[in-house]
Amino acid sequence: MVINSNLTADRSTFVTHLECSMTGERYEADQLHGLSRVGRPLLVRYDLDAVKAALPKATLEARQTDLWRWRELLPVRRTGNIVSLGEIETPLVPIPKSAGSANVLVKDEGRLPTGSFKARGLVMAVAMAKELGVTRIAMPTNGNAGAALAAYATRCAIETIVLAPEETPEVNIREIAAQGARVYRVNGQIDDCGAIVGRGAAEGRWFDFSTLKEPYRIEGKKTMGLELAAQFGWKLPDAIFYPTGGGTGLIGMWKAFDELEKLGWIGSERPRMYAIQASGCAPIVRAFEAGEEHAERWEDAATVAAGIRVPKAVGDFLILRAVRESGGKALGVGDPAILKAVEDCAKKDGLLLCPEGGATLAAYRAALRSGEVDEDERVVLFNCATGLKYPMPEANAAVDRFGEIDLGAL
Ligand SMILES: Cc1ncc(COP(=O)(O)O)c(C=O)c1O
Repeated sequence: MVINSNLTADRSTFVTHLECSMTGERYEADQLHGLSRVGRPLLVRYDLDAVKAALPKATLEARQTDLWRWRELLPVRRTGNIVSLGEIETPLVPIPKSAGSANVLVKDEGRLPTGSFKARGLVMAVAMAKELGVTRIAMPTNGNAGAALAAYATRCAIETIVLAPEETPEVNIREIAAQGARVYRVNGQIDDCGAIVGRGAAEGRWFDFSTLKEPYRIEGKKTMGLELAAQFGWKLPDAIFYPTGGGTGLIGMWKAFDELEKLGWIGSERPRMYAIQASGCAPIVRAFEAGEEHAERWEDAATVAAGIRVPKAVGDFLILRAVRESGGKALGVGDPAILKAVEDCAKKDGLLLCPEGGATLAAYRAALRSGEVDEDERVVLFNCATGLKYPMPEANAAVDRFGEIDLGAL
């Protein structure tokens, strides 16, 4: 048997405390927390000077390249609490024909367990729930997060209740159920599901696992930024296009870059962060354009890209702050452009994107046309889930093996 020491060896941990992302108020580590006292996300803080002394870059580079190689920058204290389904480092795939530039790489998160990047956040949040003695979790989801929660929680015998908007793709509902959670469709949007979860949590029925309402999902999503830095030889790309719903990944990557700079592994340069939303649900784009710090709820949200159908994000101010500090933008794209991007990428480059990934490609193409990005710039687009989960165009042609077959016409 091949042993992955990232999963089995004890390693030092460096979490010092948690901090309110709005007020900076300090919270004890190693205790169960939800939001801060003012209702904002908590961020995990590490003794980065100690990490720097304990973890030479060469040690990190010699490890197997999976998510758990970053243990010193992650919150799980005890090796036995790691719950793993094989969280590999995801590849960077060029799509020169559909992007129109050889410098565009898709970070294909569809290769992760449960087929989406939600595995990164949920593997960490579930490990921490296990560490902190949680036995029952409830969560709202647009689909993929519920699937990842179900898989990891079931694996370590934590009970899960998942609430999803009625428009959630059927495949997601079924995979959540198949992986051992109790899943319910709700006649509303994800924040309506979140309100029900919140009510049950207030009554002490379960722990609320909504995105950014517990502190550890972001630490898992942070590994996207850590990984990118290592894959790019510690020189970050010029721009990152991220399909933004709750925005946990974008906020997480921004945090990762800060931590890497404090370790001295990267410099002060940052990619321009582009938060991509569907024009049918674009609260962050609207707030960005209006110069607001927070985003108002988007009414009547509608888009084919279910993962980014998030009318109101708890971490709105953190997304907007990161986008602005980076010199990036929040950009909206319509469903027709999203679907065309998915089709082109599959037909021309052989890579099947999810609709949310298609949104980043559509936004990149528009940005290239408007001069917002240059063809020579190194750009990363996030494909957050495998395209195999989503409806594809019909293909009904058939051959009758008993009849005349015109082979030349096939
Ligand atoms: C495929 C896909 N892309 C993007 C997102 C949005 O991710 P985030 O909440 O980090 O903004 C989701 C969330 O459900 C998703 O499932």
